[in-house]
Parts: sequence; structure tokens; C-alpha cells
Amino acid sequence: MPSTPIVPAFPSARLRRLRRTPALRALTAEHRLSVENLIWPIFVTEVAGGEGEIPSMPGVERLTLDGAKRAAERAMELGIPAVCIFPHSDPDLKTEACERAWDPENIGNRAIRAIKQVAPELAVMTDIALDPYNINGHDGFVRNGIIVNDETVAALVRMALAQAEAGADILGPSDMMDGRIAALRTALEDAGHKDVAILSYAAKYASGFYGPFRDAVGASGRLVGDKKTYQINPANREEALRCVARDLAEGADMVMVKPGMPYLDICREVKDRFAAPTYAYQVSGEYAMLEGAIRNGWLGREVMLESLLCFRRAGCDGVLTYFAPAVAELLARE
Ligand code: PBG
Repeated sequence: MPSTPIVPAFPSARLRRLRRTPALRALTAEHRLSVENLIWPIFVTEVAGGEGEIPSMPGVERLTLDGAKRAAERAMELGIPAVCIFPHSDPDLKTEACERAWDPENIGNRAIRAIKQVAPELAVMTDIALDPYNINGHDGFVRNGIIVNDETVAALVRMALAQAEAGADILGPSDMMDGRIAALRTALEDAGHKDVAILSYAAKYASGFYGPFRDAVGASGRLVGDKKTYQINPANREEALRCVARDLAEGADMVMVKPGMPYLDICREVKDRFAAPTYAYQVSGEYAMLEGAIRNGWLGREVMLESLLCFRRAGCDGVLTYFAPAVAELLARE
């Protein structure tokens, strides 16, 4: 006798049951994006006429010091907990010795003080790397075509101390030199800045997605060669984990994965393995891709929220994103 297959009268699991209404979907959402998860990167210029929209980052502007103060006030109003300052420095003051990097009067340090004046409760994060002040656009000193490690670390320490002195809450070494976290932590402790935190750009890849940023800080035309001798090869996963392990052991308080969207696997693994505060940087090229497509009508604006929610699902505590103010406004309306 041929056996008749048993066809159930209804699907064994109706997973659509809990997707039926907004209330049920809200009740069963596993992750949420809130304004507290955002860090807003801002560009501050000291160049006369340097302010205004960055062509490869539509909707993002280089700000004057006054503009930076207004941005800080806006961040406070919107509930964004932190801004991260990126300097657009005078090209005539870029040198091989990068002395301006640790000048208390450089535009980055002036911006820290200006923001702390108007928004003392806003967390101010900085970037530590020599590129905004380096004539050749590299994050470290260049000697005979080589980006030298240990001399650069000594300069980064001076840069960090100037930023801490100016009132920064969180220092973000983005340079990828070896040994910098231990050197920074030791110097900060010795100088009495024991409460200044370090968010290490620990898993920072040699990425093509930084292109618009280099336009924004005026480094694109200058960069001699590429950054592959110090940033991580996009092919590598284990190496990123070793970087994170090393930086946490050296005293990093928080760690970052950068870029973000193509590296969500790394975000997840870093969070699961180290259980440390973990952040992703949705970098300039990711912003340009999404915003460009939105402005062309090729994608809907909802991809902005979706892309950020996915970082939360991947284990990130927060995201540095140029969408921060727009997202904060959207979340406030919801
Ligand atoms: C510089 C730095 C870069 C970014 C943050 N800090 C560029 C680079 O490494 O060349 C990129 C951020 C972005 O693309 O949004 N050390």
C-alpha cells in the first residue's frame, strides 16, 4: 500500500503571528536604537572660508568654532551623549614634524574648550593621529618612506596630553601604531588625568571607505602612498581580535571597529569575546553611499535607521555616525 504523506492542516510554526501589528512587533523587538547609542563626529575648521558643506558628504558641514558650539548645544537638546571632534587645520601650518598636533591652540583643542564652555555635560571625544597636521597626510611620522612607530607614539602622547588638558573626556587613538595605548595610559595617569578615558580604534582596517573623510579634513590630495603598513588588511579577522585583546590589556576602556557595515562580523565577535564597551564607526564612505542613494531617490530614508539598528544587533553599544542629529530628530518624533 502506498503510504500517504501526512500534511498538517496548519504550518507547524506561524512566526508571522508576532509580526501582525505594530504593538506585537514592538513587544518582540530584540534590539533597539536610541539616541544614547549615538556619537556625533563633527569637523571644525580654522581655515577662513573653510566652513560649509563637504561635497562628498552631502548634508555634512565643516563648522567654525561658533558652529561647533551651536552643534554642541543641538546635541544637548537632542540628547546625543557625545560629539567627536575632527580638525580641519590650516594647510600652511602642516609640517613634517607635526608640531601643531600638540599645540594647545590648535583648532582641535580650541574646539574642545569652546564646546566645554557651552555644554559642559556633553562628552567630548577626540581623535589622536598626526594626519590633520602632517604635511604628507599620514597618521605617523614618515622617515625615508617608512611610517615610524615609536617616535610617533611619543608624539601621540604629547597630543593626548594637550587634549586632556583642554578638557576632553574620551581620547580616540586612530593611528594604529603599536604600543600607543600603554604609552597614553601611563602618561595620562602620570599627568593626573586618571579619569580621561581611552576609546581605542582597535580594529581599524585599511579601507577605501575613508575617502570622503580625507576630503573633509583636507588630507586627500596630500596622502603619499596608502595606510596599509599600519591599518589592518580587510581580509583578516584573527588579527583584529589580537589588536582588541592587546589594546584592552594595555588599558583601553572602550574599543572600536572601523569601518562599520562591512565589518559587522568583527563587531559581533569582539563583543562576544571581550564583553567590553564596543563601538562601530559608520565611516564617511558609508554615509556617502547611503545619503547619496537617498538623495537620488534610489533608497528610502529608512535605511538610515536600519543601518544603525543593525550595529546594535551585531553587539555594539554605540555608533559614531554622521547621521546622529538626523536620527536623533527622527527618534524624538517617534
Ligand atoms: C585619521 C582618521 C580617519 C578616519 C578617522 N580618523 C581616516 C584615515 O584613517 O585615513 C576616518 C573616518 C571616516 O571615514 O569617517 N586617523
